Amino acid sequence: MRILFLTHSFNSLTQRLYVELTSRGHELSVEFDIKDEVAIEAADLFQPDLVIAPYLRRAIPDAAWSRYTCLVVHPGPLGDRGPSALDWAVTEEAEDWGVTVLQANAEMDGGPIWAHTAFPLRPGATKASLYRREVTAAAVACTLEAVEKFEGNSFAPAPRTEGTWRPFLKQENRDIDWQTDATETVLKKIRAADGFPGVLDEMAGHAVYLYDAHPEETLAGSPGDLIARHGDAVCRATSDGAVWIGHMKRKPAKEGGRGVKLPSRLVLGEAFAALPEAEPSTWRRVWWEERDGVGVLHFPFYNGAMGTTDCKQLEATFREVVANGARVVVLAGGGDFWSNGINLNLIEAADSPADESMANIEAMDDFCRAIIEAEDTYVIAAMQGNAGAGGVFLALAADHVLARDGVVLNPHYKNMGNLYGSEYWTYLLPARVGKDGADTVMNRRLPIGASQAADIGLIDGTFSDLSEVEHLAMSLDLEGRLEDKAARRAEDEAQKPLAAYRAEELKRMRLNFYGFDPSYHVARWNFVHKVPHSRTPLYLARHRRRVRDKD
Ligand code: COA
Repeated sequence: MRILFLTHSFNSLTQRLYVELTSRGHELSVEFDIKDEVAIEAADLFQPDLVIAPYLRRAIPDAAWSRYTCLVVHPGPLGDRGPSALDWAVTEEAEDWGVTVLQANAEMDGGPIWAHTAFPLRPGATKASLYRREVTAAAVACTLEAVEKFEGNSFAPAPRTEGTWRPFLKQENRDIDWQTDATETVLKKIRAADGFPGVLDEMAGHAVYLYDAHPEETLAGSPGDLIARHGDAVCRATSDGAVWIGHMKRKPAKEGGRGVKLPSRLVLGEAFAALPEAEPSTWRRVWWEERDGVGVLHFPFYNGAMGTTDCKQLEATFREVVANGARVVVLAGGGDFWSNGINLNLIEAADSPADESMANIEAMDDFCRAIIEAEDTYVIAAMQGNAGAGGVFLALAADHVLARDGVVLNPHYKNMGNLYGSEYWTYLLPARVGKDGADTVMNRRLPIGASQAADIGLIDGTFSDLSEVEHLAMSLDLEGRLEDKAARRAEDEAQKPLAAYRAEELKRMRLNFYGFDPSYHVARWNFVHKVPHSRTPLYLARHRRRVRDKD
């Protein structure tokens, strides 16, 4: 079928559905929901059999749903209606939640039901984490069911059952009262608003939105006081304990202004530096565990973004695990993201974004090199969450590359202002998919699903659970694999040294960072400030490509 996605952006859920539907042979095109006329023009150009709205922030125009069957993916269970579905679910601590696919009509979220799925709501998860994991999995199941029913041509969707309209969850409903709110309440409020919009609060005299909260079990102080710092995070006392806050965003001075989400350390400045350093009791940014000679390295960085310090810490920890005698190291990343490459927000906030970009890439390359050159250690990348840009190539530095079923990879850099890319991709990618394959992967700019990535040889396989990878790691014929690795590395090094690949890539990156063409700086600014799209790029809007080709 020809399916048009009408969506606010090509976000992770939309990408996953794109991957699933194209792999089933459907012809897809994408239009960003910018204004009614543009959406209708897109549908008229593409003449889709079906329109799907995976992620919309407003109603589908009447002229679209009255001419085409439009299915809307709603991140709420049967009967749930309204724009803040998941925020309410976390706020009200629902036990179960769900996803419903309904047909657009004149009533927002009120059309006939095509499919719905329920799932248990993971306690302690942020809204964004639920969206990326449970909601995405349920949305795939529901959408595929609805598409199949639509293709079957005989399904008559059931009218909506009575349900609840929940209004937009406003900041005044999210307010934290530090004098009376207990740790669990504070955590719940922040998690219900994380990654967007955050909970508006005041910290050290600044109006800030809060994100990335973790419980503290031993430290305490007068409710509301800032009591400690660790790394980039600040600890604040609640009525019965304390919480750590890792990220914040200053409220822009002007209405409609755009702030950047940053580590608390940078947002609070002097007030942060004045706090005593303390060890958190419940969380770490990077840690490793060892079982039967297998070291598992975890690095659940917020949003998968890896700043210069993060890369250095990772490299040091990796070397520590190896020095500790681990013959196999599993790089596990985090549950929500494996890695999205260098930290563009930190780069934006630096005095010289060009210098910080360079420092971040060098640190990322150093970590990649440590993995590639670890001759006595077999390294397995186990991508539990999505990866983008340099994050994908970081995984390819490992000897064996696996991704969890359902993970979506974006193995390309060009969307960030034509960035050339580093992380030894010119060495690692052709070795896996050949030269032509590398050109295709880099220039298509489209997401690739885990199983498709395994089919084309970009990765070695998929897994459903980290324990599966740990079992594999324990059962490997290590001697043989390590011998092969050493021989291959020596051969490759003789043919062209690793340092030469790095130098060539960095030469191009220097041009991106310091050269005459500012595309990377503009694209990064737009990305971190979340500037809405003014048009859909042609690599997504196939219907517009045809018009251009005819012209
Ligand atoms: N640095 C800082 N923040 C990043 C980031 C990065 N490299 N990559 C993603 N993020 C943040 C996003 O700003 C967003 O933040 P929010 O929580 O404030 O909304 C969050 O991570 C999720 O990203 P989003 O773009 O909404 O996720 P997605 O699944 O829809 O898209 C990507 C995934 C990878 C396609 C997209 O995030 C991307 O293009 N990232 C940039 C990759 C890149 O160019 N890295 C630099 C070169 S190595």
